[in-house]
Amino acid sequence: MTARKDPRLAVGVDIGGSGIKAAVVDVDAGELVADRVRHKTPEGGKPDDVAEVAATVLAEVLQAGPEPTTGETVGVGFPAVVQHGVTRTAANVHEDWVDAPAAELLTKALGRRAVVANDADVAGLAEVRFGAGRDVPGVVVVTTLGTGIGSALFVDGTLVPNTEFGHLEIDGEDAEKRAADSAREREDLSWKDWAKRLQRYYTLLELLLQPDLVVVGGGVSKKHDKFLPLLDLRAPIVPAQLRNEAGIIGAAVMAAELDAAGPTAGTPAKETA
Ligand code: BGC
Repeated sequence: MTARKDPRLAVGVDIGGSGIKAAVVDVDAGELVADRVRHKTPEGGKPDDVAEVAATVLAEVLQAGPEPTTGETVGVGFPAVVQHGVTRTAANVHEDWVDAPAAELLTKALGRRAVVANDADVAGLAEVRFGAGRDVPGVVVVTTLGTGIGSALFVDGTLVPNTEFGHLEIDGEDAEKRAADSAREREDLSWKDWAKRLQRYYTLLELLLQPDLVVVGGGVSKKHDKFLPLLDLRAPIVPAQLRNEAGIIGAAVMAAELDAAGPTAGTPAKETA
């Protein structure tokens, strides 16, 4: 009989416009091992306020257990461009996040090293490792349809970060303003009318990227049978498999990878010099 290896456990946090969610994740299986904790994103969504709520969420996750085993790092997905721990944009979040030292801020607030990346990039990572994009060679694009449109681009499983394809311009407008799930809700669009907008969006994406696979995530992807069959692309377009948990799982995987790389990996040069 072979001894069963203990699973590697890490914490993933998913910061969104309406909620901050976190859980302990088995990063080998790509599964939550305990219930996730969710608190509302504070009114206004300013950096210090968000960091404080994230700390409360993390404290509850750690208290409920089990203990993370990969090290001290906590992975965080955030809905903005994130370069080396600094948030660069703020499409659907408070403008104070532009050029905010997010990793530093969250590391202080959480009392553990925080590694921060774009929300769609971490959700995409989870889908490519464990979900709809698993073992798919070539170019895979994962999109999330929610308040905005998030995107994650993979080439043979390697992420090209911060692609921001939700902001492609269509008829002079930001694509996510017309085609995100929030547009469907705001304008009370039928599935058919929304699918027409999605068709234009994904046709443009396909023209630019020539993907081998397109994965569609975000909360609305659980109703994929209402709109995915209406879309016609050359590449297969499939629903995400990890749905709402992809962000937490991908963030935890990122934390585990940084823990494995050592205590100073991933820290900005000025801090390691
Ligand atoms: C932001 C992206 C984010 C996406 C999904 C967009 O508005 O610019 O950074 O990934 O929304 O949250």
